[in-house]
Amino acid sequence: MATTNLHADQLKAQAAQAALKYVQEGQIVGVGTGSTVNFFIDALATMKNDIAGAVSSSEASTVRLKSHGIEVLELNHVSELPVYIDGADEIDPHLRMVKGGGGALTREKIIAAVAHKFVCIADSSKQVGRLGHFPIPVEVIPMARSYVARQIVQLGGDPVWRQGFTTDNGNLILDVHNFDILEPQQLEQQLNNIVGVVTNGLFAQRGADIALIASPDGIIHLGE
Ligand code: 5RP
Repeated sequence: MATTNLHADQLKAQAAQAALKYVQEGQIVGVGTGSTVNFFIDALATMKNDIAGAVSSSEASTVRLKSHGIEVLELNHVSELPVYIDGADEIDPHLRMVKGGGGALTREKIIAAVAHKFVCIADSSKQVGRLGHFPIPVEVIPMARSYVARQIVQLGGDPVWRQGFTTDNGNLILDVHNFDILEPQQLEQQLNNIVGVVTNGLFAQRGADIALIASPDGIIHLGE
């Protein structure tokens, strides 16, 4: 197991390193969340004097960025964001993703909406033919938890409350198992339509523009 993790970490680090070429000199960089992004933040530190700063999708990434001396800017003060770099829990051949394993999905989705280019970095274990084996995280306003769970059951999913976890926005997460996802964009919209849902971890309406997938045979470059 230790060897497998080491190998996965090496692949994550390679994908993260490959993403540096999408960082534009003098510009602000959008930064996601997770173990793959942690490698990216460490790599970004090597060119911190060439960028105007970062916007961050989580408190955890903010702490890591600042620990490297990278300035973290408020998204509300940023009108142009050329690129957003983030990981994924699953990515399909159309560059649609499941995200939010780390619970940062809402801020990730907001920054992805602002960014001109979404670059997904992942190791090849994240590639799937069809989304949905990984449970779909749904961020929920606390008082709506039971209502939202009942509505999700109506949609065919099995919601499980991620107990003991609070998002950076003070909300809860339901991880939804067993969705049969034929139309990811449609399901993303249906979940968003439930009152009390803040957002969900299907990134289909706004997927990635580029994916850098690190495999044992090298980096696979998908998209533009
Ligand atoms: C966090 C995310 C992450 O991008 C996703 O969970 C992948 O994480 P990791 O790089 O650790 O596998 O969406 O909310």
